[in-house]
Amino acid sequence: MNRKIFTGAAVMATCVALSVSTIAFADRDDDKRGIFKHTGTLPAVTSKLYAAECGACHFAYQPGWLPARSWQKMMGELDQHFGENAELDQESRQAITRYLVAEAADVKPNRKSRKILRSINKDEAPLRISTLRYIAKKHDEIPARLIAGNARVGSAANCLACHTEASTGYFDDDGVIIPGYGRWED
Ligand code: HEC
Ligand code: HEC
Repeated sequence: MNRKIFTGAAVMATCVALSVSTIAFADRDDDKRGIFKHTGTLPAVTSKLYAAECGACHFAYQPGWLPARSWQKMMGELDQHFGENAELDQESRQAITRYLVAEAADVKPNRKSRKILRSINKDEAPLRISTLRYIAKKHDEIPARLIAGNARVGSAANCLACHTEASTGYFDDDGVIIPGYGRWED
């Protein structure tokens, strides 16, 4: 082998080795922290209007937690919103509906959204995220006294009480601190 070809081959081999290890590393760690933090998460909320109006009473849930049909149903009955009147003027309601639908679990592909969609029957339009099969299953080891019986949490819908980075879209268990209890170790 002449020197030029040898150098070329060595460079090629290094490139292949590097890219293979990068792929393997990304695959192993893509739901974890460090440089790949936030890659297995839902995109954060980008609509200021949505954050202000729908974050007034509770955490502004990322649109990717529910399919478009759920958001449309919810936005069509805001006067009876979980026992509250959350009605909006028509312009805000339409703008927020457009945002939620455009970013919904079945419109914008995302790993988490895919898992959520798999846990919802096609003919259903659930309004709660906290009781979706996928979410309920993730929380079934947490005793009720730490959720409903915990004055600083109150409800499984209060994601931000425990998921300290929920606003960024990061929901992995290593970001959880349950008020009055602490970090969650499996
Ligand atoms: C006036 C207060 C209020 C406003 C404003 C409000 N909500 Fe709610 N929302 C509630 C209450 C109360 C619940 C039930 C919370 C619970 O069970 O802990 C709820 C629950 C929810 C849930 C289900 C949570 C779960 O997973 O159990 C979603 C999703 C939701 N709201 C979306 C919205 C959207 C979208 C808007 C804006 C259009 C909005 N909310 C505005 C009071 C409000
Ligand atoms: C009482 C505290 C608490 C509340 C409230 C809560 N979670 Fe969690 N969540 C946890 C804990 C603890 C875990 C880890 C459970 C385990 O690993 O057994 C978890 C796990 C998860 C996971 C799986 C993460 C992973 O690494 O696989 C998701 C997704 C999630 N929660 C989303 C939500 C959403 C969305 C809400 C609000 C609708 C919410 N959680 C409300 C405590 C909470």
